[in-house]
Amino acid sequence: MVHCTRTLAAGARCLQIQQLLRWGSAHLYRSGIESSWSEACWLWEAAGGGPAWRMDRRGVPPTHITIRFRRLVDARCRRVPLAYLTRRVGFMDLELAVRPGVFVPRPETEELAEMALTLLSTLPKTPRILDLGTGSGAIACAVANTRRDARVLAVDAAPRALACARTNVRRLGLSAQIEVRRSDWFSEVDGRFNLITANPPYISTNELSTLEPEVRQYEPRSALAAGEDGLAEFRRILAGLPFHLVHGGHALLEIGHMQARGALALANGMPGLVESKVHNDIGGRARILAIRWM
Ligand SMILES: C[S@@+](CC[C@H](N)C(=O)[O-])C[C@H]1O[C@@H](n2cnc3c(N)ncnc32)[C@H](O)[C@@H]1O
Repeated sequence: MVHCTRTLAAGARCLQIQQLLRWGSAHLYRSGIESSWSEACWLWEAAGGGPAWRMDRRGVPPTHITIRFRRLVDARCRRVPLAYLTRRVGFMDLELAVRPGVFVPRPETEELAEMALTLLSTLPKTPRILDLGTGSGAIACAVANTRRDARVLAVDAAPRALACARTNVRRLGLSAQIEVRRSDWFSEVDGRFNLITANPPYISTNELSTLEPEVRQYEPRSALAAGEDGLAEFRRILAGLPFHLVHGGHALLEIGHMQARGALALANGMPGLVESKVHNDIGGRARILAIRWM
């Protein structure tokens, strides 16, 4: 890697865009990045080179773009998450800002947001929603952007997550619908909600060391780790639900795919529970615990 970077640096001034992209893609591939060509194109754009698929790749770019691109490729080879380098990520039909220190929203969580929207279509006007551990604000923004009458309180304990969520809410024009607040789960939350959503940390202590380097080394531990069995935060959330759901209210909680049995057992011990059900994702893995309260 270091060797090739030097090689590029030596002739960087006269390389065409297509040569740079090939260099980037080859490096990424050697570092274990499978979709290396498309990632090279994303990094090219993030370097300020413009959309790689729309340009004449025989052109020679300005030196500062080449240098920036090279740095981004090097960082990605060290397995810095792509989203931390491009500073954005797609979530449902939205483009969200993300930054280091903030959990990168995953496609699996889009399924939770979609379930939330389906549920909301059965509820009366101006539903109140609480999004616990909002991170970048992904679930809150996706729901509020589609359900324009919804009022959402989005909370997180991490200052960086709160700053990122506020940026997304403002950029997407959702400030009238979403309030972002610092809270240790329910500690600063008053009142009751029609729907509570959460994608809490759910990685067990043993599992932490098996995660991809991108996640293990760069994503915030406080967004991932949840004690010995991965259910420590889930328990805390469950304990607060009866005090914050309206009668007939719903909760949708993302869980780890091995946690269905443990999560269901905990939920079924909840006073006032009417129904609890685990939903699988499109890959058939248990993903979401849906709860209805009395
Ligand atoms: C797995 S991330 C999910 C982020 C976002 N909801 C998403 O799906 O992309 C978990 C989030 O919970 C937050 N969190 C962890 N412990 C918390 C606590 N005690 N109170 C509030 N938020 C917490 C983390 O800061 C992180 O943003």
